[in-house]
Amino acid sequence: MGFIITIDGWSACGKSTLAKALAKKLGYAYIDSGAMYRAITLYFLRNHVDWTEAKEVKQALKDITIEFHFNDKTQQSEIYLNGENIEYVIRDLVIAEKVSDVAAIKEVRTFAVAQQQKLGVKKGIVMDGRDIGTTVFPSAELKIFMVADERVRVERRFKELFEKNPNITIEEIKTNVELRDYIDSHREVSPLRKADDAIELDNTNLTEKEQLDFALQLLKKLV
Ligand code: DC
Repeated sequence: MGFIITIDGWSACGKSTLAKALAKKLGYAYIDSGAMYRAITLYFLRNHVDWTEAKEVKQALKDITIEFHFNDKTQQSEIYLNGENIEYVIRDLVIAEKVSDVAAIKEVRTFAVAQQQKLGVKKGIVMDGRDIGTTVFPSAELKIFMVADERVRVERRFKELFEKNPNITIEEIKTNVELRDYIDSHREVSPLRKADDAIELDNTNLTEKEQLDFALQLLKKLV
């Protein structure tokens, strides 16, 4: 059956890199909960939903179906919005600039959290996000809370986005990361915070292999 592993932390900390590597190593499912909030944001933007109006939000959520499908070619689970693969579209800065506002809406969180909890029923899952260890799976067997120096986080995200869009500037990324961290940790519903029983992982000076080894050591203590 396996465990539930939660990985929360600040924006651009490398949560998804660690979560994907862990899931691959363990043969677990990987779910990127942030992708769900990005998918909802994409739908709202495309359909001109005024998300300051609760009624409009509720109506729009009824028309949204989110699924994850494993892509054999990329060996990754990818997100679909109403049948369309949007895995790459949602990484755009246009979405990143609005997603924290959308993710702060109570109705949006209720909608996303219910689906996330369903995905964890069979366990054997690694899920990353901001409130996975605190709200979505408070009884998860292993909870990791990731941190890293802001400079390193901004550089990493810049490298990633610059490959797709050479017009992007490091200042834009810095502003976005700082703003998202602020909104995500100050919202009323399920703000980003370390669960009391989560273990902090600072990966400022760690390689991907070192952070995976750190997580695997923690896991060893459970079995
Ligand atoms: O992990 P990410 O950067 O793709 O997440 C995008 C946004 O979604 C993030 O700024 C805050 C929100 N989010 C959230 O509120 N709760 C989660 N569990 C995951 C993401």
